[in-house]
Amino acid sequence: MKADVDHISGGALSGKTGIPGRAASASGTSIVRSRLFIKYVALFVTVVVVALLANGAFEIWFSYQEHKSSLIKIQHEQAQAAADKIEEFITQIESQVGWTTQLPWTDGTLDQRRFDALRLLRQVPAITELAQIDATGHEQLKVSRLTMDVVGSGVDYSSKPEFTQAVAHKVYFGPVYFRRESEPYMTLSLAGTRRDTGVSIAQVNLKLIWDVVSGIKVGEHGRAYVVDSDGRLIAHPDISLVLRNTDMSRLAQVTSARAASATEQVQESDDIGGHRVLTAYAPVNPLGWFVFVETPIEEAYAPLYTSIQRTGFVLLGALALAFIAGMFLAGRMVVPIQALRAGAARLGSGDLSQRISIKTGDEVEALANQFNDMAGRLEESYADLEKKVDDRTRELTQSLEDLRTAQDRLVQTEKLASLGQLTAGIAHEIKNPLNFVNNFSGVSIELIDELSDVLGTVTADDKTRADITEIADTLRGNLDKIVQHGKRADSIVKNMLLHSREGSGEHRSVDINAVVEESLNLAYHGARAERQGFNITLERSFDPAAGEVDLFPQEITRVLLNLISNGFYAATKRKAQAGNDGFEPTLAAATKNLGDRVEIRIRDNGTGIPPEVKAKMFNPFFTTKPAGEGTGLGLSISHDIIVKQHAGSIAVDTEPGSFTEFKIVLPRTAASIAKSGGQA
Ligand SMILES: Nc1ncnc2c1ncn2[C@@H]1O[C@H](COP(=O)(O)OP(=O)(O)OP(=O)(O)O)[C@@H](O)[C@H]1O
Ligand SMILES: [Mg+2]
Repeated sequence: MKADVDHISGGALSGKTGIPGRAASASGTSIVRSRLFIKYVALFVTVVVVALLANGAFEIWFSYQEHKSSLIKIQHEQAQAAADKIEEFITQIESQVGWTTQLPWTDGTLDQRRFDALRLLRQVPAITELAQIDATGHEQLKVSRLTMDVVGSGVDYSSKPEFTQAVAHKVYFGPVYFRRESEPYMTLSLAGTRRDTGVSIAQVNLKLIWDVVSGIKVGEHGRAYVVDSDGRLIAHPDISLVLRNTDMSRLAQVTSARAASATEQVQESDDIGGHRVLTAYAPVNPLGWFVFVETPIEEAYAPLYTSIQRTGFVLLGALALAFIAGMFLAGRMVVPIQALRAGAARLGSGDLSQRISIKTGDEVEALANQFNDMAGRLEESYADLEKKVDDRTRELTQSLEDLRTAQDRLVQTEKLASLGQLTAGIAHEIKNPLNFVNNFSGVSIELIDELSDVLGTVTADDKTRADITEIADTLRGNLDKIVQHGKRADSIVKNMLLHSREGSGEHRSVDINAVVEESLNLAYHGARAERQGFNITLERSFDPAAGEVDLFPQEITRVLLNLISNGFYAATKRKAQAGNDGFEPTLAAATKNLGDRVEIRIRDNGTGIPPEVKAKMFNPFFTTKPAGEGTGLGLSISHDIIVKQHAGSIAVDTEPGSFTEFKIVLPRTAASIAKSGGQA
């Protein structure tokens, strides 16, 4: 497994280490890492240990079994060999003794018998004494190595087992006994083949059996011993035990051996000293004895323990190896997972430009690639979303602006409407007293004239006449001023009434050229009616494509009338200033189609507008005309009508002493735009 992991965006990561969330996620990562790490290491170690333990346990168990059975086998073979030797020894003695039971008891055979007995003693060193019993059970001859030979002693054996058992079973083995407290002996009696041959009773020295038993060596502390059919100890390397006539029948292995039916041989048991031993036996057949061979358990299993110890060491070594390998492999496995987790955490924290790079060529890499795809798609949809939000925000801002403009227009219209009402009210109220002032001042001038006429007929000294005339003139002068200013006030009131006419009428689609033409005519004829000798050249350049515009015709006419009359005024003024040097006052009106808008231009070759006037001319009540000739409301109201009511624009281009040109641009749907606010 190859874990090639790198972080494309390490810079971004290190730049954010100060953020608490980041720190928390980092510690989370390390927790996950250590948990996974520990898990993997534990898994490796467990697998290895279980495998090794299972293997070791099997090995130990089987080698224990093999070792034990082979030990038992060896012990059994040794026991068997010893038993065979003892058996052979006894059988030999039996057959040797058998020679002495060939002859029947007659007087003539005594010498022969004695000769045979002596020869037997000489040939078989283990026999120390031989007694020959006649068929009636009385001793006839006794030959011994220790005592004098006895002939015809007549000792009665007829009821003793030596005799009865031998007669019954042909051979009899007596119990073991000791002479001089140190030598084991056994009585062996043998009956002849015929009834009259009697019985030979031999005392057999069993020292040889002791030698056999002592000669058996099993390991260092192993030993052999022999018990008789009653379970008494007959031979043992520790002679004192034998001499003490130890009863071995309580030992489990002896009991089991004596109960020949026992199917299962006891292999592990306690010895006479209470130590655990591994034991095997073999029977000594004609005698009913048993040869036991035993080894202390510790010694028997010593190689086994060594083997277990060795296995333990191997296990420990393997454990250490497994731990190291586990750490190494776990590290290899955990690193890409950790990188994946860190990458996922970065993506999760909103850093969608991050990409996880894992090159392990396995499922982890596939997972990382899937994360990357997901991040890419998320990033795209985020960008898309942001664009949509931007668009929507722009649209909303636009709508808000439109709404605000509409609201402004509405407020303005409202203001205009209420101002109109107010103005109309005031104008009406002022009109009557103003009429009185004007009429009475006119009448008063006439009265002064009449007073002057009357004064002509009256006789008075010159000084008084001069005084009266002076006062009357002053009075006339005052009244003239009252008439003049009264007229001005009247004009203001009239204008106010004109401006404040309630409502603007209906809006409708009208031919814009026709509206301009009508305004030109109205203004021209109005001016000619007002001032005698007024004249001006009118130029028209109407765009035939100007077409219809939806607007409030009355209002637009008011605007045009004002602009045209301003132009007339300026041009006339310039002619008055110029005198008779051929200046020709001219006013030009033009229209132009601009697609969804139309343009109207009113241009005069009058005085032009100086900058200081230009700056203030749209203000209400600003005028440069002499008192009584202008109210200064014309441009102010025109501006409101064009800009606020019709959503159009009004601009001025001028050069003092040369020309003035007003340019109005109206949207074709001007009135519908202003509909909500247009109708007060
Ligand atoms: N075509 C023009 N040429 C020169 N000056 C002009 C022209 N139009 C307007 N003005 C200047 O702007 C001022 C304001 O004009 P506005 O129409 O508002 O008031 P007015 O004409 O003076 O009075 P009203 O229109 O109420 O009779 C004028 O007094 C004049 O000085
Ligand atoms: Mg004017």
